[in-house]
Amino acid sequence: MGLLTASGQAAMAAMIMANVSAGDTILSSQSLYGGTQEFLANLLPRFGVSCSFQDFSNLESIDTTLQQTPSIKLIHLETPANPGMQCIDIAAVSALAAKYNVLVTVDNTFATPYLQQPFQLGADLIFHSTTKFLNGHGTAIGGVIVGKDQQSFQRVYHTYKLLGVNANPFDAFLLLQGIKTLATRMDKHCSNALAVARFLEQHTAISKVNYNGLETHPHYALSKIQMRQPGAVLSFELKSGFEGAVTFINRLNIFVRAVSLGTTDSLVSHPASMSHAGVAQTQRLKAGITDGLIRMSVGLEDIQDLIADLEQALG
Ligand SMILES: Cc1ncc(COP(=O)(O)O)c(C=O)c1O
Repeated sequence: MGLLTASGQAAMAAMIMANVSAGDTILSSQSLYGGTQEFLANLLPRFGVSCSFQDFSNLESIDTTLQQTPSIKLIHLETPANPGMQCIDIAAVSALAAKYNVLVTVDNTFATPYLQQPFQLGADLIFHSTTKFLNGHGTAIGGVIVGKDQQSFQRVYHTYKLLGVNANPFDAFLLLQGIKTLATRMDKHCSNALAVARFLEQHTAISKVNYNGLETHPHYALSKIQMRQPGAVLSFELKSGFEGAVTFINRLNIFVRAVSLGTTDSLVSHPASMSHAGVAQTQRLKAGITDGLIRMSVGLEDIQDLIADLEQALG
């Protein structure tokens, strides 16, 4: 069962608030959408809920943390996640959580239900920003919270109603139009993304490509198991640093400069000068955001056109 919300951020906030109380702790993965990170780290503590951010590739230490911290009531995961397209083993984490009677919530925005189904892997609640691939055309902002059973749904519904985070009908209509082509779009998004990643990987101006569909990615094997395909978002590092990244972005003709993702158009962003321009360089580096890092959401354009655009901009 699902509840449509006014934004992905509204879905995340209602889903989490419905399931924690003062005195509880949330255990979350480290690579998160900025809004989620701030909500967990800065807003919830004002209401007596604390949050601990940990590396979920080390499950032994997660087990120890759960054992030693009985106040943990909820684990929140985002997978795959920016900027490195890191993946988390949802089945393994859910099995651990069940041992300690802890809920597992997943941000499935990058994957969509077509590519990844966290309920099949043991999660309790899922949310998506429908602003991205579910709408698919960049025409509406929205979110959806999905509960695995009547009980989890009811718990969220009450909070959802009281917070007033519901969607408006026109955005819901636009989402319904977009979602009809989800599977077809995702197939093309993913095949284009893989071709772009392979092109970037062999280019001499680039030092690193982060795409979980490349055999060189540390979570390639995991993403193959828990995802139908690796998705359409990737990032890479230009050897030429900050100035080179700005020049590269300005030279692109087809890729649209935007911090969003998941539309039919290919979108590109340079976090150091755009979404994270206000964050100190030392902080950015801790989050893996180097000066030459570029993020892309690969769209549905003809792949030859995309590669030609990248080639001329890199040249
Ligand atoms: C992974 C992820 N989750 C949640 C959100 C928030 O969604 P919205 O912009 O619809 O509020 C975003 C937005 O970029 C996102 O990338």
